[in-house]
Amino acid sequence: MPLALAPGLLLLLLLASGARGALVVSVPSSRVQTQPGSDVLLGCHFSMGGPVELMELVVQWKLGNSLVAEFDNVPSYRRPGASLSREGLQVGNASLLLPRVGGADAGLYTCMVIVPPSRESRQVELRVEVPPRVSVWDSEVRAGEQKLLTCNVSNFYPGSVSVAWLRDGLVVGGSKTPPGQLGPTGLYSTTSTLPLVPSIPDASANYACRVEHVALGAPIQAAFRLSVLSPPGLTLLQPLVTLEGQVALQCRVSGYHPAEITVQWLRDGVPLLSMESPPTEEPDGSFALRSSCILDRPESSAQANFACRVQHPALAAPLERTAVWIVPTRPKSWKWTWVGTMVLLLLLSLAWVVYRCCHIRMSKIRRGRCWPEGSVTVLWCEVEGRLQATDQLAWARLCPGKEPGPPGELSEPLLKVELDPHQISTWRCPLRLGRERLMSCLIIPSAGSVHGTFSCTFQPGTAGRRVQERHITLSSAQGAPWGPRLCPQHRGDSAQLSGSHL
Ligand SMILES: *[C@@H]1O[C@H](CO)[C@@H](O)[C@H](O)[C@H]1NC(C)=O
Ligand SMILES: *[C@@H]1O[C@H](CO)[C@@H](O)[C@H](O)[C@H]1NC(C)=O
Repeated sequence: MPLALAPGLLLLLLLASGARGALVVSVPSSRVQTQPGSDVLLGCHFSMGGPVELMELVVQWKLGNSLVAEFDNVPSYRRPGASLSREGLQVGNASLLLPRVGGADAGLYTCMVIVPPSRESRQVELRVEVPPRVSVWDSEVRAGEQKLLTCNVSNFYPGSVSVAWLRDGLVVGGSKTPPGQLGPTGLYSTTSTLPLVPSIPDASANYACRVEHVALGAPIQAAFRLSVLSPPGLTLLQPLVTLEGQVALQCRVSGYHPAEITVQWLRDGVPLLSMESPPTEEPDGSFALRSSCILDRPESSAQANFACRVQHPALAAPLERTAVWIVPTRPKSWKWTWVGTMVLLLLLSLAWVVYRCCHIRMSKIRRGRCWPEGSVTVLWCEVEGRLQATDQLAWARLCPGKEPGPPGELSEPLLKVELDPHQISTWRCPLRLGRERLMSCLIIPSAGSVHGTFSCTFQPGTAGRRVQERHITLSSAQGAPWGPRLCPQHRGDSAQLSGSHL
């Protein structure tokens, strides 16, 4: 039934309002936010389904209950500078222009359109506000020194703001909200301070400056950490002298914060290579380290200025401790003489042992004395050392006219005549330290006199060792005196050989 009635009712209304439609007024659905000093247009549009007769139209703009602007045949304004457009009104545009708005312009506006008998109104909120910007300046502090931290809250409107200081989420300051100072741009700024005497553990706390303002949906905050500076202490430690003759100069750097630090060793101002222990964190949160500089066997008379130098953000200038350090010469040189002598003795005895065991020594050919005198001529050739089973002694007679060279020189093989092996006896005697003596005896049968040059050659059985040769020249005049003794060390053989030639 109401549905069936509606078209008829609408028609009735249209007729009553002089063939016009219903009056509809619209404003922006959200509030209008602007900053002070700017021009703002509060939109308001209306329609009635046909052309607008300005003679019939009344438009009123109110802020709260007070009239701001009115159009009733002619426009009139209570707020200086406000304006409505006559041309706009003819096409249903009742927007109100407010130039250079201030805090007084903020509030709830009502746009009322009256076309008798209809009247319609809509409300729009104008906010004149600017959210603040928050920053904390200079969070660098020195441990143990009073410091005022400053939170800078700037460029906000209106001038009322609430500031709180937080440490790990707990409010530690800012109970008094500072009044805003109006700046040249029409915005307010203020600062809040937090006095504190920081210690090193404060460096690990989370600080924040929290600001609440009407233009902010939720509080904003500037979070920061304190950069706590604590200057290092520097101590020179007793140098360490190692048995190897190295000297370790040491210094201890402690009580500093932050951990970043540069430690350097200088000798008469010249940087030296140094080593640092990794910094350790002390119970109070400060850091400590040990730096050492190794002098490798410094010269005995060394006397120099050794400095440990530290650079740290908490220091305006590098910190330095200098020591004149003299290398303790006497104990060191005495020790070294002693050690040197011992080493030398050891080396000499080792060389002697090596010489005795490994050197192969060939002695001169000796002419033996045999009995009876003149029956035979016996020549002895000996070699001593670490011999091998294949090592041999070989006898030869040099061709006549061939003079032997200097002792030890080898003669030309072509100028040598091998001797009858039956004239030669060779045997070995073991000695100590694995050494052996190889002896060879050449028996030269002689009716009366023997002359000529004979050679005895040591022929090593393996390569790499030296061939050695000895010579002897016999002349008829070189007759050995008669003696009752038999050939030395080989009594039996000599006797037998002697016997065979008798
Ligand atoms: C309404 O009129 C104002 C001037 O009063 C103008 O700036 C604005 O653009 C107009 N709006 C429309 C939708 O035409
Ligand atoms: C606060 O910050 C503004 C810029 O945001 C700067 O111009 C002003 O100097 C600051 N004030 C203080 C006290 O640091």
